[in-house]
Amino acid sequence: MAEEEESKKGEMEKRAIPLLTPHRLGNFNLSHRIVLAPLTRMRSYNFVAQSHAVLFYSQRTTKGGFLIGEASGISDTAQGYPNTPGIWTREQVAAWKPIVNAVHEKGGIFFCQLWHAGRVSDYSYQPDGQPPISSTDKPLTAEINGSSAADYPPPRRLNTHEISQVVNDFRIAAKNAMEAGFDGVEIHGANGYLLDQFLKDQVNDRTDEYGGSLENRCRFPLEVVKAVADEIGADRVGLRLSPFADYNDCGDSNPEALGLHMAESLNKYGILYCHMIEPRMITQFEKSETKLSLLPMRKAFKGSFIVAGGYNRDGGNEAIASGSADLVAFGRLFLANPDLPRRFEINAELNKYDRSTFYTFDPVVGYTDYPFLKLDTKTN
Ligand SMILES: Cc1cc2nc3c(=O)[nH]c(=O)nc-3n(C[C@H](O)[C@H](O)[C@H](O)COP(=O)(O)O)c2cc1C
Repeated sequence: MAEEEESKKGEMEKRAIPLLTPHRLGNFNLSHRIVLAPLTRMRSYNFVAQSHAVLFYSQRTTKGGFLIGEASGISDTAQGYPNTPGIWTREQVAAWKPIVNAVHEKGGIFFCQLWHAGRVSDYSYQPDGQPPISSTDKPLTAEINGSSAADYPPPRRLNTHEISQVVNDFRIAAKNAMEAGFDGVEIHGANGYLLDQFLKDQVNDRTDEYGGSLENRCRFPLEVVKAVADEIGADRVGLRLSPFADYNDCGDSNPEALGLHMAESLNKYGILYCHMIEPRMITQFEKSETKLSLLPMRKAFKGSFIVAGGYNRDGGNEAIASGSADLVAFGRLFLANPDLPRRFEINAELNKYDRSTFYTFDPVVGYTDYPFLKLDTKTN
């Protein structure tokens, strides 16, 4: 009896924490609202996901938890960094299967993030040493992640008739992700990569139907959304956007209009969720004060709304309690705390993340060696 009371009490305490309340994400019953944000870790040698990722993802899996996989290249022109995974070859698809299985075995829901880097790439990542593709032929001008923009060569502007081929690459990659066992896909339309290079007016300088007006700039990303939704079902598709950010030298003169137009347009396709990065995240990792907000987009979009960027336990709880989001994705905190939901539940201290190992190639160090809470049998 005492045990029953204890467990009831535990349940009530849990309910009082907004991040730990359930959410129905389309057909998926999530047991809580703490999402693993997509995290590139550069440990997928030769663009193939590796067996050590089984441990990384399963450590971060809870029953009914939602995980978004790291950005995965959709084609042989999509890569721009060493050792990021792909999802365009049979070998890559097969390599993902045991990782997805491990997440499913623990009751997690796992989406694959589909990615094309566009001009954030160089000749060495491209077939036959060709220039990377983009909406534009302008190279990056800002300094990116400590490397100078000179490391990024001028891209080749896609011809109008080639765009449908890239749309098709996204479609096939989505099909591959389903074959690998993923529950759905998140299309990466954020952070200055290919889709964002079409969305943002400070990069997109096209004069065809894919450039100029807001509608035209959104055309290619929306074609990708439609193609992917037609292929695997809209109820398995999310889209990530960062209208306010200008990472990778990819800013827009009117991010509010851009974000709102996309949120409204997405309703036509009935996709599962829209995942937006907070305006305060001007650079990838630094927060800044701003009055700008994602609320207009949250209100306009009819599916589930995920927010990310600079959240901690309190901020996440506030976002859920106030209704400004359905789910909150955590990047760095989840990277460093494999048992983040449990730590939030009992308000435990958090491990600090080590930035120096974010993008190193070691299969263990800075990857799967962040400790779980001690003496907590529930988490291990
Ligand atoms: C190591 C690392 C890798 C990342 N890789 C990706 C990625 O593959 N795809 C993506 O959309 N965002 C990526 N991001 C951005 C995160 O998903 C998230 O938006 C960002 O870290 C801000 O959230 P946070 O303050 O909770 O860390 C990455 C961030 C970090 C720290």
